[in-house]
Amino acid sequence: MEEEKSKSGRIAASDDVEVSAYLEIAKAKAGEKPLPEELAPAPERETVVVIDFGAQYNLLIARRVRECHVYSDLVPHDAPWERVAALKPKGFILSGGPSSVYEEVAPMAPPYVYESGLPVLGICYGMDLLAHQLGGKVASGKRREYGHAVLHQNSIESPIFKDLPPSMTVWMSHGDYITELPPGFRALAYTDNSPIAAMGNGKGVIGLMFHPEVAHTTHGKTILKNFLYEVCGCKGNWTPSNVALENIARIREQVGKGRVICALSGGVDSAVTATLVHKAVGDQLTCIFVNNGLLRREEPERVLNVFQRNMNMNLIYRDASERFLHKLEGVVDPELKRRVVGEEFIKVFEEEAKKIGQVDFLAQGTLYPDVIESQAPESKASAKIKTHHNVGGLPQKMTLSLVEPLRYLFKDEVRDVGLAIGLPEEMVWRQPFPGPGLAIRIVGEVTKEKLEILRATDWIVMNEVKKANLYRRLWQSFAVLTSSKSVGVMGDYRTYGYVVAIRAVTSEDAMTADWARLPYELLATISNRIVNEVPGVNRVVYDISSKPPSTIEWE
Ligand code: XMP
Repeated sequence: MEEEKSKSGRIAASDDVEVSAYLEIAKAKAGEKPLPEELAPAPERETVVVIDFGAQYNLLIARRVRECHVYSDLVPHDAPWERVAALKPKGFILSGGPSSVYEEVAPMAPPYVYESGLPVLGICYGMDLLAHQLGGKVASGKRREYGHAVLHQNSIESPIFKDLPPSMTVWMSHGDYITELPPGFRALAYTDNSPIAAMGNGKGVIGLMFHPEVAHTTHGKTILKNFLYEVCGCKGNWTPSNVALENIARIREQVGKGRVICALSGGVDSAVTATLVHKAVGDQLTCIFVNNGLLRREEPERVLNVFQRNMNMNLIYRDASERFLHKLEGVVDPELKRRVVGEEFIKVFEEEAKKIGQVDFLAQGTLYPDVIESQAPESKASAKIKTHHNVGGLPQKMTLSLVEPLRYLFKDEVRDVGLAIGLPEEMVWRQPFPGPGLAIRIVGEVTKEKLEILRATDWIVMNEVKKANLYRRLWQSFAVLTSSKSVGVMGDYRTYGYVVAIRAVTSEDAMTADWARLPYELLATISNRIVNEVPGVNRVVYDISSKPPSTIEWE
């Protein structure tokens, strides 16, 4: 392949598409205004509250509800009525959970669930609660019903099964059974093992022994949708543009005439946060973008192009690469790297913020799962593997109020909102990139030379994965510069160069990940390009470890 040396001495392949394509899309998209200039008020939010009884996948219920365009919030089972009332719920879902209703410390549904007169859907343990608290009976079964089961509807019409076949596959995971219906309830469906697998009172209180939120329940989403639309009477106005409109209105109200700062990283969360705040309060927002010298090739240019040139945002760009590199000299331990980068970031950010003068708010892209996780202290008991959220966090000394427009949103919702407010697709669909950047993809000490090698390598991987149309399907795909060197031969000469590892994984949420079965042809192209185009590298290996037991990043 033809090579050309760029001005900075970097090697670039002449057919790389990344930057030019990106900038074209950025120009075209960022100028578009999908939302009208005079923003219409968003319709009132419809909320269905999920009461959390501790099952592992309860967040999934909220997520599925939102996929039906109804807002859903997960609240602890002991949440006070004032908190729940503020959400103006249209209905409740009682989640599953590990307890048994007869245990002494079993969590109960709060009285307001029944007193409100609103529709209630009890799932698994939630159904046991309905039976137990409304006067029926629950007993422990001889054996646990776990896995697929065939659900048969009784010949009773119920809105929950509207438009669904008489029998369907569902996912079960329970040990307790309803042995006696509460007064006024009828059994709506059964399985071989559960004579009462669904029940209802005809007045909006419904119990399901199976899990409609998991993909294994074939009509699960329709069942949830039926509850939301047919039972709770929702219309489904939780759409990306309404979310954006509502958010912009809230930010305006919160910020008033105040001044806001926001740290841009190039990632989707900070990009959407900044854009929402900018749409809400325009020049009252100043963004700070710190180049820590650990970014991917062309990243600073892209960020400046989208936000400064196209959106006309107030943007302070600070190139602090040398300073970060200096601080990283001799640092080998991954956690220390994270700390050094995190602390330095806060220092630089504060220095720049001071120059702006009076600031009242800090906008940051905290997501809903982070908010939920921080409400559950018991989850903190797990062993610390890595410090993930160390960069871009709130400088603790700063006494600023927070503007967090994404704190109600899941990642995929953030992406949808990003598109609705006109951010370029390339930015919205960017794969996650860690705060400490390339520092944790260089095993051992970070040096300028190694960074140049890794940037050139990473560039090739990203471009080839994009050309193969796999970029979006992979959770992450990147290169790692190992500390190993190996012998090779180039022309008639012996080489002694670095071993580069390619990492590509599929994942839902980064908690677990599988190594991606990339086509051999793609691997061959990537490998050929790297050893031919990047001086100092003579061997490429492919990482075939999954998480667990490995992690996604090497450090
Ligand atoms: P691991 O390597 O723990 O990574 O499987 C899970 C996800 O987190 C990202 N990651 C980080 N993100 N700062 C970040 O902002 C960090 O220090 C950090 N370490 C890992 C990683 O890229 C993956 O998406």
